[in-house]
Amino acid sequence: MDSFRIHGGRRLAGRIQIEGSKNATLPLMAAALCTDGDLVLKNVPCLSDISNMARLLRELGVEIDGDSGTMLMKVVDHNLVHCRYDIVKTMRASICVLGPMLARRRRAVIAMPGGCAFGSRPIDLHLRGMQALGAKIDFNGGDIIVTAPDGLKGTTIFLGGPFGSTVLGTANVMCAAALAKGRTIIESAACEPEVVDLANLLNKMGARIQGAGGPRLVIDGVESLGSATHTVIPDRIVAGTYAVAAAVTNGDVILEEFPYDGMLAVIDRFNEIGVHVELLEGADDPMHATVRVTSERLLKPTHITTQPHPGFPTDLQAQFMTLLCIAEGNSIITEKIYPERFMHVAELSRMGAQIYRQGPTCVVAGGTQLRGAPVMASDLRASASLVLAGLAAEGETNVSRIYHLDRGYTKMEEQLNILGARIERISESATSKDGAGTTANEALSAAES
Ligand code: EPU
Repeated sequence: MDSFRIHGGRRLAGRIQIEGSKNATLPLMAAALCTDGDLVLKNVPCLSDISNMARLLRELGVEIDGDSGTMLMKVVDHNLVHCRYDIVKTMRASICVLGPMLARRRRAVIAMPGGCAFGSRPIDLHLRGMQALGAKIDFNGGDIIVTAPDGLKGTTIFLGGPFGSTVLGTANVMCAAALAKGRTIIESAACEPEVVDLANLLNKMGARIQGAGGPRLVIDGVESLGSATHTVIPDRIVAGTYAVAAAVTNGDVILEEFPYDGMLAVIDRFNEIGVHVELLEGADDPMHATVRVTSERLLKPTHITTQPHPGFPTDLQAQFMTLLCIAEGNSIITEKIYPERFMHVAELSRMGAQIYRQGPTCVVAGGTQLRGAPVMASDLRASASLVLAGLAAEGETNVSRIYHLDRGYTKMEEQLNILGARIERISESATSKDGAGTTANEALSAAES
C-alpha cells in the first residue's frame, strides 16, 4: 500500500482549485440507471470510489465513456439487477443504485453492506422508503431483494432516523419516486447540497421535484426520464480540508471553486477559531466562490457538534480535530452522526496530541506542538486529519495506507505540494520490499463512503 512521507512545518501559500464532489457524483452516476437517454456528467473527480461506481454500473448494463472530467453514460441492458458483494464491500455508496434500479427495472438485488471502520451503517431507512412506495423486500444469501412488479406508487414518507436524515436514503427514495405513479412527499429529507445537485439533475432529465435543500420534498412522478448534461458541484469536504491545511500551517491560500454557500456552519467555526475565510469572488454564485484563507497567529478553542446539513458535517470532524490540537485551550467535539467515528484519535495521540474521549465526545487539549511519527490511516477522513497533522508537525510523518485518501481526494499530495508542502508518495512496491505492505484483501475490507 502507498504511504506518504510528510516533511512538516512548512507554511502553505498559493492557489488551487477545488475538485468536483465525490458524494455528489456517486448518486448522479447512479441516476444513469433511470433513463434510456444519454447522461453526461462534467467535473467528475478522479478517485477510486468513482472507478468503483463505474465498475458497478458497467455490471448493471451501463456503457460508460471517460472515468473523470467528462463522463458519458448510457444504459444498454436493463435486465441486469445484481449488485455483487465484491463491489458493495469496497464501497458502501453502492446502495445508491437501489432507487434507480427499482424505479426503472422493478427489481434490485443488492448485497447487504456490512459495517465500516466507524461503526454500523444501517440501511433500514432506504428500505422503509422503498416499502412505502410499494416495494416488497426479501433477504437471501446476504442479498437484499427488492421488487415492485406492479410499479411504485407515490405516498407520504417520513425518512428521519435516530441520527437525523439520511443522505443516500433520500437520494434513493427521490430517484424511485421520480418515476412512481402520483405524488410522493418525503418529510425529514436530507438537505445536503449533494441531494440538491441530484434533484437538479433529475429535474433536467424531466423529473418534477420541488423543495430540494429543505426537509420536505414534493415529487410528482413522471412516465420516463430523458437525457441530460450536468456539471457536478465542487466538493465541500475537500474545500474544508484544504482550508484547514492553510490554517494549521498559518498559511495564506486562495481556493477557487469553493462551495461557500454549502459551508456556512464550517465557516462559522473557522471564524470562532480565528481562521479567516474571505470571499474574493462569487457573491453572486456562492457555490463557486473564490476565497482566501488566512489565520491569526494564536488560534482559539471552540466546541463543535456534528449534525446533518446545514449543521457542521461529520466528514470534517477529524480534520477540525487536528486544527484544534494547535489552538490555545480546551475544545470539545461531539460526534452526533457516527458516535464511533474517532479512529484518528489514537493516531493523533502518537503525534503528541492530547485528546480525551468519552463516548461520542472528545476534549481536545490544545496548544500542542505536534511531532512527526509513523501513523496509520484507517478511513478516508481520518487519513486526511493525519496528513494535516503531518503538515503542522515538527519533523517527518509517515502516513501508511493512503489508499483510503485516494478514495476521496484527487492526488492530495500534488495539490498540497503546489502550495509549498513537501509530501512524497512512497509506492507500494517500495514498502512491500521491507515487509510493510498490506494485502489487497485488507484494502478491500474498509468501505466507508
Ligand atoms: N442511518 C440509519 N439508517 C439508514 C441510513 C442511515 O440509521 O437507513 C444513520 C447512519 O447510521 C448515520 C446517519 O443515519 O448515523 C446518517 O447517515 P446517512 O445515511 O446520511 O449517510 P450516507 O448517506 O450513507 C453520506 C456520505 C458520507 C457522510 C454521510 C453523513 C456519500 C457517498 N456518503 O453517507 O460520507 O458521512 O452521508 O453526512 O454521500 C465520506 O465521504 O467520508 C462519507 C462517509
